[in-house]
Amino acid sequence: MILLNKTAGVFPKSSKRKIYEFLRSFTFHPRKLFLHKVVLGIETSCDDTAAAVVDDNGHVLGEAIHSQTEVHLKTGGIIPPVAQQLHRENIQRIVQEALCASQVPPSELSAIATTIKPGLALSLGVGLSFSLQLADQLKKPFIPIHHMEAHALTIRLTNNVEFPFLVLLISGGHCLLALVQGVSDFLLLGKSLDIAPGDMLDKVARRLSLIKHPECSTMSGGKAIEHLAKQGNKLCFDLKPPMDRAKNCDFSFTGLQNIVDKIIMQKEKEEGIEMGQILSSAADIAAAVQHTTACHIAKRTHRAILFCQRKGLLSQTNAVLVASGGVASNLYIRKALEMVTNVTQCTLLCPPPRLCTDNGIMIAWNGIERLRAGLGILHNTEGVRYEPKCPLGVDISKEVGKAAIKVPQLKMQI
Ligand code: KG4
Ligand code: ZN
Repeated sequence: MILLNKTAGVFPKSSKRKIYEFLRSFTFHPRKLFLHKVVLGIETSCDDTAAAVVDDNGHVLGEAIHSQTEVHLKTGGIIPPVAQQLHRENIQRIVQEALCASQVPPSELSAIATTIKPGLALSLGVGLSFSLQLADQLKKPFIPIHHMEAHALTIRLTNNVEFPFLVLLISGGHCLLALVQGVSDFLLLGKSLDIAPGDMLDKVARRLSLIKHPECSTMSGGKAIEHLAKQGNKLCFDLKPPMDRAKNCDFSFTGLQNIVDKIIMQKEKEEGIEMGQILSSAADIAAAVQHTTACHIAKRTHRAILFCQRKGLLSQTNAVLVASGGVASNLYIRKALEMVTNVTQCTLLCPPPRLCTDNGIMIAWNGIERLRAGLGILHNTEGVRYEPKCPLGVDISKEVGKAAIKVPQLKMQI
């Protein structure tokens, strides 16, 4: 746990005056009386500076986002001090844009909700410091948000989903399966023992130099792999899904990444090209790695559904699997998940892509959920800290492993 260092200033105290001027810049008058609860959500846990204003009917009144993806693509990964600096440069403008778009005067906000865990320390600090000063000036309640809980509950903004439901969160920084039983009541069924699938796909894309590929130069690694895979043959390489013998719901992607690295090295030798040039077999490699990733994710999810069904943890008539996170926008992986939900009589739901990735809306919505449930609303922010590492819910992954559920083989013909 890291204390928010107010004097060293992630968002320095001297900026108090700036916040005051910032608030005075809101000259518009309310178009309507705000009978609804309205929350401003702020997200800076990784490389997106995002803000949104959402009401308790789930209406998104305003939103703004500044993505750092392009900068980090060029440096080959996120450099935390660079991310911090970019958050500092953009947070005020982004919050202002979200508020202006919403036409909600800051004085009418019901609360300010901000991601305080988990995430990059330097990034979390900027959002928290800014938000605390804003809440202090406006004399509004502050709602600390767990980034993963916010991802998990986003589906309740777009769909009428009751508790409990199962959630699969797969992105560049996250990989977990959890049962959502309430706004702040989660059972963790499994997680990645090493890196997240998006991180692995980003590394493979970087090793294949896809940034130099004319069709992929502006895409994230995962998106580039999905795009190229359509032109490739997944059967050219025999990649085995990781952890096939472990009958739990944990994931692993480092081994797969190492095997793919070796294949790329071998192919570079065969094709007589240098590292950094594009292989003629790049599309086949992309197809094989995407297929293996999909099979691994589908199998762990299948076991999680069977576990919950056996233990009576999911609705018998209306069981729901929610898939979210950047990697869940991959249509091949979604099809693999659909095959699993079809055989287990579950419904697969995915938030729209802009809500799958990091955004301010999910943070504001989590604030609304917490306001409604009366959970974690702070009127005194003394001692509020950010927490770079923070597990989600109660970890029952050992119990899941002990149940050793055998998953029927599915023919992944996608
Ligand atoms: O949720 P997100 O925006 O940020 C976090 O990591 O929290 O997810 C970004 C990750 C990156 O690793 C990116 O390569 C991956 O999601 N991604 C994809 C696709 N689009 C983004 N992976 C596979 N297929 C995609 N279409
Ligand atoms: Zn995220």
